[in-house]
Amino acid sequence: MSNQTQDFIAFVKQTFGSQGLIPLHAPNFEGREKELVAKCIESTFVSSVGPEIVEFEKDIARYVGAKHAVAVVNGTQGLQVALRLAGVKSGDEVITQALSFAATCNSIHYLAAHPVFLDVEESTLGLCPAALTRFLEEETLEQDGARYNRKTGRRIAAVVPMHTLGFPAKISLIKQICSRYQVPLVEDAAESLGSFFEGKHTGTFGLFGVFSFNGNKIITTGGGGMIVTDDPELAKAAKHLTTTAKVPHTWEFFHDQLGYNFRMPNLNAALGRAQMERLEGFVQNKRQLASLYQTYAKEHGLHFVKEPKGSLSNYWLNALLLDDLTSRDAFLATTNQAGVMTRPLWTPLNRLPYNQNCQTGPLPVTQNLYERLVNIPSSVRL
Ligand SMILES: Cc1ncc(COP(=O)(O)O)c(C=O)c1O
Repeated sequence: MSNQTQDFIAFVKQTFGSQGLIPLHAPNFEGREKELVAKCIESTFVSSVGPEIVEFEKDIARYVGAKHAVAVVNGTQGLQVALRLAGVKSGDEVITQALSFAATCNSIHYLAAHPVFLDVEESTLGLCPAALTRFLEEETLEQDGARYNRKTGRRIAAVVPMHTLGFPAKISLIKQICSRYQVPLVEDAAESLGSFFEGKHTGTFGLFGVFSFNGNKIITTGGGGMIVTDDPELAKAAKHLTTTAKVPHTWEFFHDQLGYNFRMPNLNAALGRAQMERLEGFVQNKRQLASLYQTYAKEHGLHFVKEPKGSLSNYWLNALLLDDLTSRDAFLATTNQAGVMTRPLWTPLNRLPYNQNCQTGPLPVTQNLYERLVNIPSSVRL
């Protein structure tokens, strides 16, 4: 393993043309980023009102093929607002996958709802349709058009699959299951801008999709997120709720409900617009890198994680599947020590202290992936 790892380190250094620290995913600002941000500063409209926000919303809606987009301060709050508008209330349950970043379950907790953690599939790294069906069929019952958990008596208010590392989950099938059991679908598409399932963009299958533009994502606004939906009333409600629920008026301050200050600032949207001009190039560049890794892995007896059939992945973070926990830890130690940044997957969410009392299904695939998968350097190379 050690020789194989040394060889891999040399390959990464050569591929990125650097002997210095090679990050997991660095942002790239070699387009019109400085120009558009400078213009925004000159305009003095740097905060939560301004033309860049509206234009950035249009850019994203057009690109993903959604009817409406609402720009927010980050993906986490975007998920919280989307879930609230999907009908999630205090005391409800929301089904999601155990293999995700903490933000997925945090957004559920913020609404005082309870996450239920199900397994993922190895072929997509996303929510397992069979596990979802089994849970809804065996562990819930229908009452007055809603689903209730047999054990806890709580209402199942939403399902939140996540498109892990940019790989699309089997979202058509998940959507069918959600329709059959009449549970709203909200997609955590934080990592999957530029990823398509059967030709349709991820995040556009459910009632809502939510993207993140954190500094480590495929495009960044510094911090930021976007809620997309095809429903005009829900889009209007999302904008209202994220702009302190202020009723539009030339001078009057009247807020018709308890809203949030979650609107994306114009300054961040300006950066986002410049990044959107480059998204297509970023996706192509990252797919080329994935192809180089794939060839390398094949020639060196490594298991590279490929996009699932029928989908086009943005390859946000490339990944290798190693043999076991011991080889994973050895690989992480050697590569990081050599200045090649690699990371394991997130600790499964059910194992975080604040999720201790949450219901979980059997999680063999989650556990196996957690013990074996490593993310490897995936920045856009110019
Ligand atoms: C799966 C997932 N969900 C949600 C988020 C939250 O996004 P943000 O950091 O913009 O709040 C992220 C990324 O950070 C993520 O990776």
